[in-house]
Amino acid sequence: MSESAAARRLGILLSGRGSNFLAIADAVAAGRIPNAEIALVAANRGEAPGIAAARSRGLPAEVVEAKGRGRAAHDAEMVERLHAHGVELVCLAGYMRLLSPSFVQAFPNHILNIHPSLLPAFPGLDAQRQALEYGALVSGCTVHFVDDQLDHGVIVLQRTVEVLPADDEAALSARILEQEHLAYPEAIARVLSGKYRIAGRRYVAAPAERS
Ligand code: GAR
Repeated sequence: MSESAAARRLGILLSGRGSNFLAIADAVAAGRIPNAEIALVAANRGEAPGIAAARSRGLPAEVVEAKGRGRAAHDAEMVERLHAHGVELVCLAGYMRLLSPSFVQAFPNHILNIHPSLLPAFPGLDAQRQALEYGALVSGCTVHFVDDQLDHGVIVLQRTVEVLPADDEAALSARILEQEHLAYPEAIARVLSGKYRIAGRRYVAAPAERS
């Protein structure tokens, strides 16, 4: 399916190890994200392990180094690369960099992000640590459309994770990450299906998709 001429072209942006990218790549290969292919994996840091993982899978992988450059210039180049690869849907997968408004506007309602908390709780960095320090009993992950505010756009899907008394940051992060790997491919498949509408802040699935 991923070789189909009509396949929808995904662009994955990452900054680190890339486990969410690998979960998405596995889901594409297994047909769990139907009629899709990964057109480009891109990072803002040359040393991102996710880039090496993409190359070892034979996927197009590029680095647009951010260090020492202004946000506008960096984002303009990233948008150019995404367009050059015909990307339709951008998936931020541990991309630890704010997008400029012109980046967001270049892909209206076609940028997704995953965040390791139940937004709007605990946006920003170290979301799992924030949840522990706050004393939350439940946390999880959120896949949302990206708008011009941090960790703020319309929510597509959330999965919950219980915070256990013995949890430290590593243990909670690991259990949330397992749920991220399920949530992100499912959210991408839903968005690519087009069977939804956005009503204000709400993602509303078309009747056939509701369970
Ligand atoms: C994931 O936990 C993701 O939710 C988080 O970074 C990690 C990336 O891991 N993203 C954010 O915190 C964004 N605000 P990965 O590189 O193994 O996919």
